[in-house]
Parts: sequence; structure tokens; C-alpha cells
Amino acid sequence: MKSPVETEILIIGSGLAGAVAAISAADEGKQVLIITKSAELKSGNTPKAQGGIVYTSSGDTPEKLKEDIIKAGDYHYWNKAVDQLCISGPELVNEYLIERFKVNFDLNSDKTTSAELSFTREAAHSEPRIIYSKDKTGDSIQTATLKAVNNHPNITALTDHTALDLLTLSHHSIKSADIYEKPACFGAMVLDNQNGEVKAVYAKRTILATGGLGQIFLHTTNPEESIGDGIAMAWRAGARCFNLQFIQFHPTTLFGSKDRFLISEAVRGEGGKLIDGNGNEFMQSVHEKGSLAPRDIVARGIHQTMLDTGQPCMFLDISFKKRDWIEKRFPSIYKNCLLAGVDMAAEPIPVVPAAHYSCGGVGVNLAGHTSLKRLYAVGEVACTGVHGANRLASTSLLEALVWGHEAGKDAAQFQEGDDYFPQIESWVEETEEIDPALIAQDWLTIKNTMWNYAGLIRTRQRLHRAQTILRNLQNEIEDFYQKARLSPSIVGLRNGIQTANAIITATLEARESRGTHYLLEDGE
Ligand code: SIN
Repeated sequence: MKSPVETEILIIGSGLAGAVAAISAADEGKQVLIITKSAELKSGNTPKAQGGIVYTSSGDTPEKLKEDIIKAGDYHYWNKAVDQLCISGPELVNEYLIERFKVNFDLNSDKTTSAELSFTREAAHSEPRIIYSKDKTGDSIQTATLKAVNNHPNITALTDHTALDLLTLSHHSIKSADIYEKPACFGAMVLDNQNGEVKAVYAKRTILATGGLGQIFLHTTNPEESIGDGIAMAWRAGARCFNLQFIQFHPTTLFGSKDRFLISEAVRGEGGKLIDGNGNEFMQSVHEKGSLAPRDIVARGIHQTMLDTGQPCMFLDISFKKRDWIEKRFPSIYKNCLLAGVDMAAEPIPVVPAAHYSCGGVGVNLAGHTSLKRLYAVGEVACTGVHGANRLASTSLLEALVWGHEAGKDAAQFQEGDDYFPQIESWVEETEEIDPALIAQDWLTIKNTMWNYAGLIRTRQRLHRAQTILRNLQNEIEDFYQKARLSPSIVGLRNGIQTANAIITATLEARESRGTHYLLEDGE
């Protein structure tokens, strides 16, 4: 093993939350190292976010936003966290995204209002308070944010580096008395994807910003790297994780597309209607807000109507708008639909739900601090208590921004003991080559099991079945991980099965059916 690399602050992941945490810690004069397993810093869910980010339009207030968040989240929220988001969120959007990074948000062409930014509405929002950059808001935000990261003199970034595990006093120190210390993290073991070398990265503070986990389900809007790495590492390190049962399924993804291309909620926000194969607006009888009901309700409404009617998908119709307008407002969705043979300006879009967002994660406080000393979590990997049992649309980027900022600032305030880097065992390199067919089949088992037994509608019987399958599989995978020549794919598989098992455990332990966790009593 190479000698340990040392940094003041290590950030694992380079989406919006990780990037903002890096900037905010680096602004305090600290040396920051960002690592990402991807070949590019721009990766993960951030650049895939289409709809927008919550800001504040005239007539809006933090209280109204709070009310919408807690209603959508089925009243399962941490009051202080929602207050922090609603009060400082819009201020930080202005400070970072508008003033500092100069994100190219769409401007108003409506001359009847003096507001410069264009606002849209999404499901379960009482106000049109969302600003956007066409239908590629996350991509525009991430491009602008990474420019600031790359230009910051205190930030170094390493792509193609995969974190294997967090280093903790209790698991890795060779000094036996360290077991009596408060559990603390002092960095991570990291694999260089290019040459297969493993090195320890020692850090005074470590920030997990590894993003989502949608790829542990068969159908998802998430990119291939979103497999729950952060939850798996935190779980193994002993950090408290909670609300893992709350997996949000996005109601509208393009039916038939291999990677479940997202059809943004902004399409419904702009007037698009959900209909079944016979043209009935089925959501009208499910919820008073119809197509704009909270996401969990719409996703289940679609799922249930598909089951009731035997139809393989439902439809989202915005074809009554002018072609020119659709092309300008939703250029990427328009193009992707055309590629799939659907002309959304002339016909309804066939849609189905898919796994989209993890509302739970590694539990954190208002500063993003986890239950382990010296360890933070920000962005989708974290559970701040804002999203409750079901996240309100266009709040994920906002939460990433607020907690990224807070965690970066807090992590930069070092305390006594933060520079304790114990000696660790040297890494033993194993050499067994893993048959790629095993990895491919194991992923199919994880994805199918999670989709069919822990998806939109759950029963205890299905969850117990999932637990048996996934526990056995985890034993097998751990066995070959321990002997394997390390590669990103075997590391990813180990994390995927760990996260899947953590979700099943949390789901079985959940005390109530609520929000995105919809449990049918067996026999119902
Ligand atoms: C969307 O555009 O529908 C996704 C936005 C979000 O997940 O908040």
C-alpha cells in the first residue's frame, strides 16, 4: 500500500452538495480534496435534474414553502431542518447560484410582470416559485458550480478514484485502546481505478456526498453510478442511518426507454394532464389536486390504474400547447421523446413510474454532521429530516446547496483531536479475478428483488422474501469481495447489496405505512 495521502477535508462525491461543501470549506482557507469514482467531476444525479430549484416568487413566503414541504412529506419532518431550508435556501440560491456562479436561469418574456427570472410550478407547490434553466436545470447548475470548484486555489479534485470504506478509529486503528474513544472517522481507503492501487486518504474531516441509490431498483431515473455507495460505507462504519424505507418513485418516466428517461414534473406544472389509454383523467378521482397531487400519490395512482386496467403505461398529454413553445420550454424532453418515436407536440407521452430519490439516508444535524465524529453527509446520501416521507419537487438541489454550505463551513472549524491519524494495518492486495457474469447476475437479482418486493407497494411477505434473498447474496458477495482483485465493479456490487439490505431492514422495522412507504397488510 502507498503511504497515506493527507488532506484537511476530504469530500467523497462531486455533485452539487459535495461541490458547494468544497467551496464553502475552501473559502474558510482549508485544503480540500474531492474524489469521485466517475471519470468526470460532472456525474451523478445533479446534472440529470430537469425541473428546477425552489426560489421565491412575489407573494411567496418561507411559511408557505414550509407548509407545502410538510404536507408533501406526509407530516413526517424535522421542524428545525425545514425552517433552515425555507429561510436560508432562497438566500443561498441568490448568493451562490445567481450572484456568484451566474447560472443561466430562464428569464421572463412576459412583459406584464417586472420579475426578471421566470418561475414555474410543480406538483404540490401552492406557488409558482421554481426557477429553471429550460429542462436541464441540474446540468446548468453543475456546470457553473464546477467552474468555481476548478478555479478555487484550495481545492484539488481526483476523478476515477473509488472510496472503499471510511476509516474509523474503532475499525482501523491498530492501537487497541482506540476502541474506547468516541467513534470517529479519519478519512477513507481509496482505490485508484486506473492502476488498481489502494491508498489511505487521511483527513481531519470527511464529507460524504455520494448521491443517490436508484440503480438498486430495476427501473430508475438515476445514472448508473447511483448505487448507494455512501449509505453502504456509513452503515459499515456504524453511522446512524434512518428513514431508508422512504424511496420516492417519480410518476412520469418515458415508457419503453431503456434508462427510464425522466419526463419532468414541470410538464404537469405547465398544464400537462395525466390520462389513461382511453383518455380519462384518472387522477381526478384519486386526489383533489389531480395530476398535481404529491408525487407518492401520483406514482401510486399510475401504478394502481395500470394494474386495474391492465394497460402497460399511462399517458401525459401536453400536445395542446404550441409546438414552438414545447420545443423551447422542454428541448431535451422533446428531443428524447422524438428519439423514442413519440412526438409530444402531437400525441400524449407514454409514462410509467421509476425509482427516483432516497428521502432517507445517513442521519445529520443542521450542520450536516453525522453520528460519527469528524464525519459529515450532504445531498441525497444524507437524511436531514426535510423530506420526511415524500420529498416535495425541486427541493433536492436546494437541500444540497443549504447543507453543502453549512457542512463545508462547520467542517472547517477544527477541534482538538481532529489531527489524530492512527497507524493502520497495511492493505493486503488479493488477486482473484471475478467472473463478470456473476456480477451481472447479482445485479439483476438485487434490482429485480428491490423492484418487485420493495417497490411502490409493499407487503410484509414480500419484504421477508427480499430479506432472505438479499442476505444470502450479501454473504456470497462479501466472500468474493474479500478475495478479489479490486475493481470499481466489485466495490460497487458490495455497496449495492449492502444498501439494498439496509433498506429492507429499515422497511421491515418501519412502524407505519406512510408517504412513499406504502405497506399493504398481508391479505389486503
Ligand atoms: C422533475 O423535474 O420532475 C424532477 C425534479 C425533482 O426531482 O425535484
